[in-house]
Amino acid sequence: MNRLDWSSRPGQPLRGSVRVPGDKSVSHRALMLAAIAEGESRIRGFLEGEDTRATAAVLAQLGVRIDTSSAGERVVHGVGLHGLCGSSSPLDCGNAGTGMRLLTGLLAGQAFDSTLIGDASLSKRPMRRVTDPLTLMGARIDTHDGLPPLRVHGGQPLHGIRYELPVASAQVKSALLLAGLYGIGDTEILEPHPTRDYTERMLAAFGWPITFEPGRAKLQGGHTLHATDVDVPADFSSAAFFLVAASIVPGSELHLPAVGLNPRRTGLLHALRLMGADITIEHQRESGGEPVGDLLVRHAPLHGVELPEALVPDMIDEFPALFIAAAVASGSTVIRGAAELRVKESDRIATMASGLRVLGAPIEETADGAIIHGGKLGVGSVESHLDHRIAMSFAVAGLVASGPVRINDCSHVATSFPGFLELANGCGFALQDVG
Ligand code: S3P
Repeated sequence: MNRLDWSSRPGQPLRGSVRVPGDKSVSHRALMLAAIAEGESRIRGFLEGEDTRATAAVLAQLGVRIDTSSAGERVVHGVGLHGLCGSSSPLDCGNAGTGMRLLTGLLAGQAFDSTLIGDASLSKRPMRRVTDPLTLMGARIDTHDGLPPLRVHGGQPLHGIRYELPVASAQVKSALLLAGLYGIGDTEILEPHPTRDYTERMLAAFGWPITFEPGRAKLQGGHTLHATDVDVPADFSSAAFFLVAASIVPGSELHLPAVGLNPRRTGLLHALRLMGADITIEHQRESGGEPVGDLLVRHAPLHGVELPEALVPDMIDEFPALFIAAAVASGSTVIRGAAELRVKESDRIATMASGLRVLGAPIEETADGAIIHGGKLGVGSVESHLDHRIAMSFAVAGLVASGPVRINDCSHVATSFPGFLELANGCGFALQDVG
């Protein structure tokens, strides 16, 4: 990946309509389920990001034919539950935690061995949360002290388990459900707080019998997945940067069409409204079994809040954007119960705190959150720490800083949001490639 530095300056009020790319979580899952289904599935609205392309490349390496019919569309020729072939080369998941964790579950039940690797950021992310319960199901997986690379041994008979997740994680839940497809008997997952249920909804859409409700999912091994077409909604996590940007830049009024509004993803909407944001949902509807709506966001003065802890899992990817909103709100914002932020693409409490301090924002880090005292942002040079969401959040910060904010090494933005710079500039950002 080439190094890419950005400079973000105060621009115009944000205006117009911004169509953000397809949902990352849904795109990963659609590829994986389509790959092991019987028949041909078409995925529309597929995220052309590096993370999801890495998953497509891994599946191709495992013998699945995936055609790019047009940009944002894939036709996956499913090989059936037992049709994947082993690869002697490592399977490179790039920057994608979702890709690696879900594939580990999928590969645990195969007849062949696999090695999963990732980039510098992914190579530091904890994998025992997945490999420990998979081991309870009968899998054999070697880690490097709990970190990637992962060596998944094939030919291990799996059996279902009843497992209470110690942390709310849709990735772990999904990995176990994918392994459960290959297990004898029932796999039942219980969550401490409900997390995104795309895997459950999509398994049902592909014809696999599954029962689920918020906080619980149960399936049995030994059925068949039948190919189906998937319409991927726009990614709420990508829309989040524009929700914050339009809220904090005076005079802004921005439309964000066809955004996925799965209730397990929209915590930021509630958090911003608690802070005084003016966001309305128009034309709420269903698309591909998912709630979708057009968002209209207008500038509004924000004030600090004590963030309700119950919102945390529903906005786990949106904290970097929220930190920016809090840093320019009046009063203080208190975030607790968010220790999971420390094991994302970067330690997002530490990386946001250090970047905000560079811009002169008073922020106190705690073990599981932060206290952010709102005020004005100054100029400075911040690091992305190889984390796409940190880079985009500081691009938003530059809109309201007293001068240019330089963001070093933004190449990872392409993992989830290809074309961010052009889309952002198209609605009023003043973002420049200076690297
Ligand atoms: C995801 C789940 C979340 C989220 C990640 C995508 C998924 O991770 O942060 O970006 O697609 O299942 P955790 O399961 O680790 O919370």
